[in-house]
Amino acid sequence: MTSPPPSKSSVPVVILGTGRYNPAYVLTNAELERRVDTSDDWITTRTGIKERRIAAAGEHNSDLATKAAAAAMEQAKVKASEVDLIICGTVTGDMPFPATSCLVQENLGAHHATAFDLGAACTGFIYGLEIGKQLLQGGGYKTAVVIGSERISSVVDWTDRNTCVLFGDGAGAAVLRQREGRGGGILVTDTGSDGRFAHILNQPGGGTRTPITAENVHDRLATLKMSGKEVFRQAVGTMSTSCHKAMKRLGITIDDITLVIPHQANIRIIEAVGEKLKAPPEKVFKNVDRYGNSGAATVPMALDEAHREGRFKRGDKILLVAFGAGLTWGCTIIEW
Ligand code: COA
Repeated sequence: MTSPPPSKSSVPVVILGTGRYNPAYVLTNAELERRVDTSDDWITTRTGIKERRIAAAGEHNSDLATKAAAAAMEQAKVKASEVDLIICGTVTGDMPFPATSCLVQENLGAHHATAFDLGAACTGFIYGLEIGKQLLQGGGYKTAVVIGSERISSVVDWTDRNTCVLFGDGAGAAVLRQREGRGGGILVTDTGSDGRFAHILNQPGGGTRTPITAENVHDRLATLKMSGKEVFRQAVGTMSTSCHKAMKRLGITIDDITLVIPHQANIRIIEAVGEKLKAPPEKVFKNVDRYGNSGAATVPMALDEAHREGRFKRGDKILLVAFGAGLTWGCTIIEW
């Protein structure tokens, strides 16, 4: 589904500030070589990843999310008392319930906020931006903090070389507000899901279908499972189609986009999507070498990094695109 482009009467929803938090511990390919039967050469050539961040013991998803949100609020000059909506995209929350966003609310002291989590895997931040925008435009809320945060290291099977080399922990966030008297902001979003492919990327155990038992833990059912090749194929197809739909809806082409910020799962996926969009390589943001795939945190972390590096300025159009378990996918185009 692609949202309609902004009408003359709709007040734009803009991103006032961005933030991120990367845990301190750097897990290198060299260290992974000592843990499983892999090599720096294999990981680098097949994925582009050189290192990823891993949260410390006792450093919870809500801690990562809180630090990213606080950084975004500081940049936006927004106080906790002004925040009335917190949306946290995550599939690795502190607990099955309550929502991690409620723990973040408490950490921030944002006591007037409504807080909920969003389970769209790696697409969580893009779904969150669109839902935040719609709720702000509905008139009931004034300031939203949208977060993508994951502690994927807790659900990775560290004996499975097919998956453990790919993922890392982190959090990213953006502060959203309606802004009278200017255009731009979040212009258009295309989203989609396809539950027929739920089985190709999932964590089968730990929910109510397969609860945690000693046997299930022994069988590693509470860890991430993935059919890599099928995920790869779906990722390239859905992300590039979603981008084309969003650009078409706005009547623009890749030439009108200053920076493409794609989900950072694998350098080969990023390059394949870039080629399908006919985007010059320098227009496609990449930090997968330093963080790997941090789930829903990936896109907001990249957005914050690009923003702080000055990769785009006021009035530029940037395109965010992601893909994840579900399957889910989404593309949003923002005029900064
Ligand atoms: N180190 C060394 N060898 C490895 C390895 C590792 N870490 N992981 C897998 N291999 C082996 C496989 O066992 C296989 O060996 P075999 O041929 O003897 O069976 C061989 O490498 C090739 O595996 P293959 O699956 O063909 O590799 P690939 O080129 O498809 O790359 C992925 C594998 C996982 C990197 C790739 O499919 C991918 O990135 N998929 C998408 C993942 C993703 O984006 N997930 C998250 C989405 S949000």
